[in-house]
Amino acid sequence: MSFINQVEAIIQHNEQLDKSDRLDLNQLLKKLVVEGECTFKNVVPHQTKPVSPLQYGRNVIFQSELYEVVVISMPALIETPIHDHGESDCCAYVVSGLVENRCFSLSESAKPLLRATQYYHSGEYFYESSNQIHSMKNPTGKSFTSLHLYSPPIKNNTIYKTVMNHKSQYLK
Ligand SMILES: [Fe+2]
Repeated sequence: MSFINQVEAIIQHNEQLDKSDRLDLNQLLKKLVVEGECTFKNVVPHQTKPVSPLQYGRNVIFQSELYEVVVISMPALIETPIHDHGESDCCAYVVSGLVENRCFSLSESAKPLLRATQYYHSGEYFYESSNQIHSMKNPTGKSFTSLHLYSPPIKNNTIYKTVMNHKSQYLK
């Protein structure tokens, strides 16, 4: 079974459970990684090249009413815009490479201020709650690949420009 088929089967099984029996986002992503065999070899075929205005590949490999799964392919030294996730929580897994996760809060004038920088290596997980403002950066000369699980599917998230922000359909 292909990686995408594994992802579909695992998530659809989880969705069919009573709400109280469903795995939480962290548990579900871990199941996708372990039972779905989320290896670099299996994920590589699902990487995509950057499509403007994004400078990195972003491929939605699964979407349902409750969940969305995205493969991010980040070239060397590229960073996403600063953004939140709208009403969605997110859990991510680093398939290969190094992720620099930059966390922000808003100043009184609604300007993002860098509060923390975290590094996640291949094989590590990290969680972003819906109200977290962040960017993901590749600080190295080699691309990174990461798998992201959102619930619900991400929409109407905010992308913060240097001075002002606006609503956008572009997703991180
Ligand atoms: Fe994000």
